[in-house]
Amino acid sequence: MVACLFYVLFVVFVAGHGAGLNCTGSCGNDGPDIRFPFRIKDEQPDHCGYPGFDLSCSDDNSTVLELPTGVSLLIEEIDYRHRLVHARDPLGCFPRKRLNFSLGASHFQIKTQNNEWLYDWTLFNCSSNEKRSPYGNKIPCLGAFNHDVYAVESYDTISDSDLLSCTKMYNIYGFTYGMLLEENYRLTISWFNPTCGSSEAECYGFLKHSVRRKLLITGVILGLPLFAMVIIALYRAYSVIKPGLSCFWMITEH
Ligand SMILES: *[C@@H]1O[C@H](CO)[C@@H](O)[C@H](O)[C@H]1NC(C)=O
Ligand SMILES: *[C@@H]1O[C@H](CO)[C@@H](O)[C@H](O)[C@H]1NC(C)=O
Ligand SMILES: *[C@@H]1O[C@H](CO)[C@@H](O)[C@H](O)[C@H]1NC(C)=O
Ligand SMILES: *[C@@H]1O[C@H](CO)[C@@H](O)[C@H](O)[C@H]1NC(C)=O
Repeated sequence: MVACLFYVLFVVFVAGHGAGLNCTGSCGNDGPDIRFPFRIKDEQPDHCGYPGFDLSCSDDNSTVLELPTGVSLLIEEIDYRHRLVHARDPLGCFPRKRLNFSLGASHFQIKTQNNEWLYDWTLFNCSSNEKRSPYGNKIPCLGAFNHDVYAVESYDTISDSDLLSCTKMYNIYGFTYGMLLEENYRLTISWFNPTCGSSEAECYGFLKHSVRRKLLITGVILGLPLFAMVIIALYRAYSVIKPGLSCFWMITEH
C-alpha cells in the first residue's frame, strides 16, 4: 500500500511539474530570453515551445537555431513583440558553405531591408594575379592568399566574362547582397506565430497531446514493474492481493 501511494504521488508530481513549470529560460545568463514559441531542446519540456522553434545552447552559451535546411544560426536577439530574430552565421561568413538559404517549409522568413531581394548565386574561385572585369561580386570572407572568390547571379550568362578563367565552386540560393558581401552580417528573420496562438496557454490544447504521450510512456514504464509486483503478490497471500489490486485499478483508471 505504501508503494502504491508513492507511485500515485509520483505520477501526480510529474504531471504537475510539467504543467506549472516556468518556461522562460536562456543560454547562460547573457543569452536572449527564450520563451514561447521557442524552447531550449532537451532542457525545457515540449509544451514550452512549438514544433520547429527548438533552440539549443552551444558549449560557450551561444543560442543556436538549426533550420530544416541544415543552416545553423547564432541567435543574438529575439524581439517577441515584432516577431523578429537577429542572427549571425557562426563563422561570420554566410556564403562559406554550400547553402540553400531558403527557409522553405519552416516558420521563418528572411526579413529583407528596403529594396533588398533574394538571389541565387554561382561562386567562382579566381587567382588574384589575373586582371578581370569588375563583373562579379567579390566575397571578402572567402578570399585567401592569391585567390579571390566572386559571386555571379546564377541567371546571368557569363560567356563573355573573365570569370571563365576561374574555377566554378558551387551555387548558393536565397542570399541578399548583404549576406554575400558583408563580413559577419547580421541577418534578421521574422517568424509566423503558430496557428494555435502566441502563447503556450493558447496552444495548450495542441501541445498537451505531446505532454500526455510522455506521461503515458512514463506511466507504462513505471507501471510494468508494479504490474509484475501485483502478479507476484497474487501468488503470495490473499492479504496482499486486495490492496495490490485496488492500487492496480487506481492506476489504470488514472
Ligand atoms: C520565470 O523565470 C524567469 C527567469 O528565471 C523570471 O524572470 C520569471 O519572472 C519567471 N516567471 C514566472 C512566472 O515565475
Ligand atoms: C554558461 O552559463 C553558465 C550558467 O549561467 C555558467 O555557469 C558558465 O560558466 C557559462 N559558460 C561559459 C563558457 O560562459
Ligand atoms: C531550397 O530549399 C527549398 C525549400 O526546402 C526548396 O523548395 C528548393 O527547391 C531548394 N532549392 C535548391 C536549389 O535546392
Ligand atoms: C581557391 O583555390 C585555391 C587554389 O586551388 C585554394 O587554395 C583555395 O582554398 C580556394 N578557395 C576557396 C574558398 O575554396
